[in-house]
Amino acid sequence: MIIDIDFSPTISKSYKIYIDEEKEIEVSGKLAIITNEKVSSLHLEWLKKRIKNDFIIIKIADGEEFKNLETAEFILLELMRHKFDRKSTLIAFGGGIVGDITGFCAAIFLRGVNFIQIPTTLLAQVDASVGGKTGVNTKFGKNLIGAFHQPIAVYCYSHFLTTLPKREVGAGIAEMIKIATTFDEEFVSFLEKSDLNKSEDLQKAIAKSIGLKAKVVKEDEKEAGVRAVLNYGHTFGHVVENKTNYKEFLHGEAVAIGIKMANELAYDLGLLSEDEKGRILALLAKNEIDFDFKIEDLESFYEAFFLDKKSHNDKITFVFPKGIGGYELRDNIPKEKVLNSLKKFCK
Ligand SMILES: NC(=O)c1ccc[n+]([C@@H]2O[C@H](COP(=O)([O-])OP(=O)(O)OC[C@H]3O[C@@H](n4cnc5c(N)ncnc54)[C@H](O)[C@@H]3O)[C@@H](O)[C@H]2O)c1
Ligand SMILES: [Zn+2]
Repeated sequence: MIIDIDFSPTISKSYKIYIDEEKEIEVSGKLAIITNEKVSSLHLEWLKKRIKNDFIIIKIADGEEFKNLETAEFILLELMRHKFDRKSTLIAFGGGIVGDITGFCAAIFLRGVNFIQIPTTLLAQVDASVGGKTGVNTKFGKNLIGAFHQPIAVYCYSHFLTTLPKREVGAGIAEMIKIATTFDEEFVSFLEKSDLNKSEDLQKAIAKSIGLKAKVVKEDEKEAGVRAVLNYGHTFGHVVENKTNYKEFLHGEAVAIGIKMANELAYDLGLLSEDEKGRILALLAKNEIDFDFKIEDLESFYEAFFLDKKSHNDKITFVFPKGIGGYELRDNIPKEKVLNSLKKFCK
């Protein structure tokens, strides 16, 4: 399957997302594959056979703590050492971490070179690899340095996922449920009926998620409007990640908890019925991502909303589902209302 994202007339760039398409990769200039030890030991041999150019391989350390400027500098200096020029291309071969940092290096190396995304985790396939958000973390927070830089192509292969740990699969499914709940009731029904342990169902769900994400990004590349809806579950999820020191839950798992929290508040606001709230909860449970997270201290949980780079002028923008398949953005919810809903998650 091929999805074509055409950004014209806003910007000239257009690119294709190939899903399980047998394609050979060929570029005109020098080529570097950025990856890590784990991904390269599992899947690089397979990829090599499909690349027609010579290439160098740059391996970076595995883990969110290495998605930083130091690793970016290491990649950039390797490119310079190998005399890469403006016509060169980078391939991001790995999960969202490799994708974000490779995209960032591509955005700033010689003021911008081409890059290709070949995502190998479910989360990277359905979310991170499409849309051109690139960046690194600092000690002040995640993704605080970055650039919008679109890839020239994305190649998704579902067979990479056969080696992915189950928890990582669940984290990707949470992002799928996120986009389905706010944009597409039919997709929610599909997820209810399907079994994502079966590769055929998973493949369909991946294609559907990517299609939805591509549509949103096309409408609003720089997140001035509808793209913000993709933060559903994230406003709460980021606080959960922060409060557990980024150690207890994978990002997608924290998003699953955030979805439950957002839904409770949406229910209290009359945006979601009891039945609809139950449907999403059942979907999380069915995919084993219905976690039991307990808030220690409500006040300090609330304060942490303001650490998010998306909170402006003391206002928190919440994304809610409006029924199943719809959404509503609100930045005027009184603190008491938020705390009242969150009480259900307290010890
Ligand atoms: N740019 C965006 O729009 C966007 C969106 C969502 C998330 N992100 C970013 O993505 C990152 C998270 O990405 P992730 O969830 O893919 O995590 P990740 O990149 O850390 O990958 C998870 C783990 O799986 C391993 N792995 C990768 N592919 C594998 C495979 N096929 N088989 C076995 N193991 C494999 C990795 O080496 C790693 O240990 C975060 O830094 C987040 O900020 C970016
Ligand atoms: Zn996310």
